[in-house]
Amino acid sequence: MSESWPKHDMSFLQGRRPRRLRRTEWSRNMVRETELLPRDLIWPLFVIEGQNERTQIKTMPGVERLTIDLLVEAAKAARDAGIPALALFPNTPDHLRSEDGAEAYNPDNLMCRALAAIKSAVPEIGLIADVALDEYSSDGQDGLVRDGHILNDETVAAMVRSALVQAKAGADIIAPSDMMDGRVAAIRHALDADGFEHVQIMSYAAKYASCYYGPFREAVGSGSRLRGDKRTYQMDYANSDEALREIEQDIAEGADSVMIKPGMPYLDIVRRAKDAFNVPIYVYQVSGEYAMIELAGAAGAINRDAAVLESLWAFKRAGANGILTYYALEMARKLGR
Ligand code: PBG
Repeated sequence: MSESWPKHDMSFLQGRRPRRLRRTEWSRNMVRETELLPRDLIWPLFVIEGQNERTQIKTMPGVERLTIDLLVEAAKAARDAGIPALALFPNTPDHLRSEDGAEAYNPDNLMCRALAAIKSAVPEIGLIADVALDEYSSDGQDGLVRDGHILNDETVAAMVRSALVQAKAGADIIAPSDMMDGRVAAIRHALDADGFEHVQIMSYAAKYASCYYGPFREAVGSGSRLRGDKRTYQMDYANSDEALREIEQDIAEGADSVMIKPGMPYLDIVRRAKDAFNVPIYVYQVSGEYAMIELAGAAGAINRDAAVLESLWAFKRAGANGILTYYALEMARKLGR
């Protein structure tokens, strides 16, 4: 039967058959344009007070908050899997959160103790410290609030103090995630003045006001406090020229590398940034993206493992030099094999 199916006259192709390259496994491998490697993956981790304890995050099945002793074990596993760096986020105890977010620059805060513990036990791995006030303030905003407005320059002053205690504790990379104006230059200046000229700045340069941060806010305990939104500092998702201006300014202020966030809905920004700027570009596959893959996988709507791989590869194809992802350890282990 099949032998009798008529053929279309394809002479118009003049021999151009793109499927030729995809015909066999070896050929597909030979023409593959991008790689996904363990060293592309940066692992975000949530820290809690206590000893030998892990707590579940309801909206992020499979991700746990860890006490510092367990965090050190996680850091060893990450190093062994070939992950170059960790990004730490503290879940500050409620009684230490305040209007002024002063816990952010307490040199003995949870974040600083976590940084110091990993730095001494696993010195081979890079440590990225998030700097923003939402993990320490009583209202869940990234900046100081007065009469309902987010104050810029006062917030920058607090962030500079926070970055300095983190650098002293062992942070290798300061990652301001707040989107205040001028914070990169202010932090760079303060780090240099204090003898930390070797500490990098990875700025969350194009960070959008996004619904995809929801599960993260549960993880660090800021979500239930947050009133309103973050649209006076995080970016409007209708814009992309503005992202290039933000990135350009952060590089001019001294950022060593920049980040785009969220990830998958913003691949166009990753590509534009890669084409426009000659600095390392990172992308954050955020908590809501993780939750979507996990929950859709659990519901049988998509193949979870395939979705994880495809999502990470999409970031590489878009031009990212590295990816912050909650899948880092699992995938580094798989890719390393
Ligand atoms: C804090 C911060 C957020 C994330 C990283 N740093 C949340 C926010 O801006 O509200 C989100 C990460 C994620 O969703 O995985 N400034």
